[in-house]
Amino acid sequence: TLSPIQKRNIEDETGFEIYDRNQIILDIFAKRAKSNEGKIQVELAYLKYQLPRLTEKDAGLSRLVGGFRTKGPGETKLEMMRRRFREEISLLNKRIEKLRARRDFTRQKRKLSGIPLVAIAGYTNAGKSTLLNRLTKSNVYVEDKLFATLDPAIRRYTFADGYSLLFSDTVGFIKNLPDELKNAFMSTFEEISCADLIVHVADVSSLDVDNQIEAVEEILLELNADHIPRILVLNKKDKIKTQNKEIKRSDGIFISALTGEGINVLMKRIREYIGK
Ligand code: GTP
Repeated sequence: TLSPIQKRNIEDETGFEIYDRNQIILDIFAKRAKSNEGKIQVELAYLKYQLPRLTEKDAGLSRLVGGFRTKGPGETKLEMMRRRFREEISLLNKRIEKLRARRDFTRQKRKLSGIPLVAIAGYTNAGKSTLLNRLTKSNVYVEDKLFATLDPAIRRYTFADGYSLLFSDTVGFIKNLPDELKNAFMSTFEEISCADLIVHVADVSSLDVDNQIEAVEEILLELNADHIPRILVLNKKDKIKTQNKEIKRSDGIFISALTGEGINVLMKRIREYIGK
């Protein structure tokens, strides 16, 4: 992560365009956003990220004297550009506020329906969407890419005896998520803090599984969601077998969202937690 000045200095020194970690994450998010809300959120995050990084070079060096779009004589192109960014940010904030109000309303309605909500959370690429697809036979976007899911999907699951649950899939967590994105995706994460149960999915075949689990726990703490009961699910068990890897963890429920192994045990445990 580079400060605006560091980025500018390295660019000036090398003549290269420099992308730091945050910008790369933002770019990935920008490519993946699908829904209207997801796109607005990413655009907002982008503008907020870019605003302190705008340079004379971006705006062109010439000083504008009055005229269309500038605020009177003396406003430089850079100042004009910053002003337009700020205007756009405030516009997008208003649109997000409206969408959030609608989301709150839907959430209220869902609460009234009395159907418990189980949030599927976990590190990016852990297999959350694959699990949701398997559970609810829906077709949530699954891809072997980071942050494939940017829009929370909510699906219904009905047990054999007719008892129903709602599952929500959320954007993948990541260590040190850029602040711009954290804010932008708060509404998505809010879905987690209203859940009755969190299913924390981890990729047990990843060498970094312990750190990833820890990173997710930290974000849950930040979201004030650490009081919600949690089930740790160690996914991609099949990969360990085929790659002859060792299993590093003994806690949690081992499953393979891909083959379906362990899903029955997981559903039984979820039902026990929900308590009906
Ligand atoms: P984000 O949306 O990026 O947060 O990802 P996600 O956690 O929703 O992961 P997703 O379901 O998109 O799966 C990521 C990749 O892992 C895909 O290529 C899946 O096919 C693969 N995958 C998911 N579950 C399993 C599993 O149990 N075994 C194996 N071998 N691969 C799996």
